[in-house]
Amino acid sequence: ADEKARLESRIKAVLKEKDAVLVAHYYTDPDIQRLAEETGGCVADSLEMARFGNQHPASTVVVAGVRFMGETAKILNPEKRVLMPTLEATCSLDIGCPADEFQAFCDEHSDRTVVVYANTSAAVKARADWVVTSSCAQAIVEDLDSRGEKILWAPDKHLGHYVQKTTGADMLLWDGSCIVHEEFKHRGLEDLKALYPNAAVLVHPESPDAVVEMADVIGSTSQLIHAVQTLPNQEFIVATDNGIFYKMQQLAPNKTLIEAPTAGNGATCRSCAQCPWMAMNGLENLLSVIEKGDQEVLVDAEIREAALKPLRRMLDFTA
Ligand code: 13P
Ligand code: SF4
Repeated sequence: ADEKARLESRIKAVLKEKDAVLVAHYYTDPDIQRLAEETGGCVADSLEMARFGNQHPASTVVVAGVRFMGETAKILNPEKRVLMPTLEATCSLDIGCPADEFQAFCDEHSDRTVVVYANTSAAVKARADWVVTSSCAQAIVEDLDSRGEKILWAPDKHLGHYVQKTTGADMLLWDGSCIVHEEFKHRGLEDLKALYPNAAVLVHPESPDAVVEMADVIGSTSQLIHAVQTLPNQEFIVATDNGIFYKMQQLAPNKTLIEAPTAGNGATCRSCAQCPWMAMNGLENLLSVIEKGDQEVLVDAEIREAALKPLRRMLDFTA
């Protein structure tokens, strides 16, 4: 406990010293989320993270999350230094969508408007017409569909299916998925729902279709947190990374939160949902990167310029 307190107070001091602000995702360790809140940074979903880094005056943005979040911060803020506790924190959606294969796919279907999920590399975004996150995907696709556009969607097939079903848009889907959300099991969820019949089921749309179909609320991390605060239910079954429980419990201390059943990922915990890449963010590597300034996110200038356009479109659309 002493060591943790020492690390936390050092991090607070060094953030100030280096004119740096900490932006954390809801899936990171609660200690990191708390630090971000206590130091004037923010804890947010991926869309809000992008917006915050873009608006804050600090000259260094420290992104606790996964690689694509750091890259997005850099693309939107090329004049700032963007650091991450470790550049190795990636995402299975990003890994499953290599830029060269993706570009070839786009070339084969050049009549389609290219919409990519934020969970992709800068090089993939550079080829896109639009970037979306789970909080705005539906609204953006609906708008494109209403203008008669046919869509090429990458990389998350589950989110893609969900958006296709709710909007009726013509969407060609890339075959990618999130290794964390893919583990949620609808059979187990049915059993749990039988035990807690009054619980509202909250599901992140990266989950398999059968799980999404059982949801009372489907949304981004921020939208699921909002649901816990606003729905009248006393109990909630939550199908997303369990890092989200910190904020849910903080904002709705009297509600009962239950983890949706998974097969686990084996790497960080055996029977719960936890992203192994988000879990790479810790107090020690956070302090180290702020002190040393290594693990800096850099994006090639040409790629950056091309990726900025679809990202800006998303921010303008959701403004
Ligand atoms: P949100 O945009 O909902 O924060 O999701 C990001 C993510 O990586 C979900 O797995
Ligand atoms: Fe990627 Fe899934 Fe981890 Fe989110 S939870 S960062 S989608 S691997």
